[in-house]
Amino acid sequence: MKILIKNAHIIDPLQGIDGIGDILVEEGKIKGIEQKSRRAEEQKKTPPQPPLDKGGIKRGVDSELRTIDATGLYVLPGLIDMHTHLREPGYEYKETIKTGTAAAVKGGFTTVCAMPNTNPVNDNSSVTDFIIRKAIQEGACAVYPIGAITKGQKGEELAEMGIMYAEGCVAFSDDGNPVMNSLIMRRALEYSRAFKVPIISHCEDTNLSEGGVMNEGLLSLTLGLKGIPSEAEEIMICRDLALAELTGGKLHIAHVSTEGSVRIIREAKKRGINITAETCPHYFSITENTVEGYNTNAKVNPPLRTQKDVDAIKQGLKDGTIDVIATDHAPHHRDEKLREFDHAPSGISGLETALGLSLNLVHEDVLTMRQLVEKMAVNPANILGLNKETLKVGSDADVVIVDVNKEYKVEAEGFISKGKNTPFEGLVLKGMPVITICKGKIYE
Ligand code: DOR
Repeated sequence: MKILIKNAHIIDPLQGIDGIGDILVEEGKIKGIEQKSRRAEEQKKTPPQPPLDKGGIKRGVDSELRTIDATGLYVLPGLIDMHTHLREPGYEYKETIKTGTAAAVKGGFTTVCAMPNTNPVNDNSSVTDFIIRKAIQEGACAVYPIGAITKGQKGEELAEMGIMYAEGCVAFSDDGNPVMNSLIMRRALEYSRAFKVPIISHCEDTNLSEGGVMNEGLLSLTLGLKGIPSEAEEIMICRDLALAELTGGKLHIAHVSTEGSVRIIREAKKRGINITAETCPHYFSITENTVEGYNTNAKVNPPLRTQKDVDAIKQGLKDGTIDVIATDHAPHHRDEKLREFDHAPSGISGLETALGLSLNLVHEDVLTMRQLVEKMAVNPANILGLNKETLKVGSDADVVIVDVNKEYKVEAEGFISKGKNTPFEGLVLKGMPVITICKGKIYE
């Protein structure tokens, strides 16, 4: 099957493309890409040419050809989520590889990276192998597993990182938990250098955050809920930066949520430390006020913060301090979120709202479309060493077609994900993926 996407506004930062053009997909690969303005200029210079060959697009009648008129739409490299909880194996009542990847594709993602806090934990090559096989059989998009740093994510003993790397893990993380023991974190950073893969750090000093369920401040006091201070995150970022400097390991900071964290990371980058960082749409879209009414769908770890934190996160995205927008898609069962606030699990189902929320940054002039593509496709691919960030001829046909003006209301009941836990219910978003193509397969 061939697909011809016509008259699209193509953005591909790697090739320096930001303009109207056509793309041809054949046998799951990008077969041709052609920019309208360039074609017009070339036609002015040269007499009419026969149909284009290599790298260009041959025109003609073909029954196997599906033509998509993308006039007025953007065509981008498929989005890459480097922080997804697919829950399988073990928590299939929350999500499965099948439902999670279907939700991803609906959200415009063509690649997701599966966090290891499954049951059993992905701390050995059998679990890694299971995830890879299941994703090939049932996944709608590409899935790359992230292995645990420590056995059982207990923070006590390093997992078999080398074997998991050989099996296909693209990074290591104890996400959901920090690695509290600094010596173990040091060893993980040292060891990971051999494979050139990042250690993704969930930065939380659990001595400070213990028992906390929301941001610490006046609101937590008013609601009678135990708070988590910003310093619980910031102290661990400082420690991990020191360890990254000591070891030369590749450190990636997960889900940055505070103004102080942005400042610390900015200064570290200025000093040339080899780190990258991500935030998630909820940290630049809403504040702790969403927790009011004991809304468990707004319970997430790290917690939603204040307006000054939201503003700092946006600034950090704008000036390049924060490299990546990841979803931290954390689906939970409805019954779990119906528990009292203290006992409900943390997490937001994020795959199906991430692009719409992130496009707000473009509408507000915080980011350009090109920067958005960098944060949601190019940078995650570069950090993880995935060859999936471009529409270059010969690449996998992982493409998302986006209508940036289409408005729609967030309705969790319509989510494909099993996780209906969103604090954005009823919000009207502007901009959505209309077609996602994974290795040439069309989802619409
Ligand atoms: O809110 C969260 N939920 N934060 C995490 O770090 C883990 C995640 C989960 O697995 O539910």
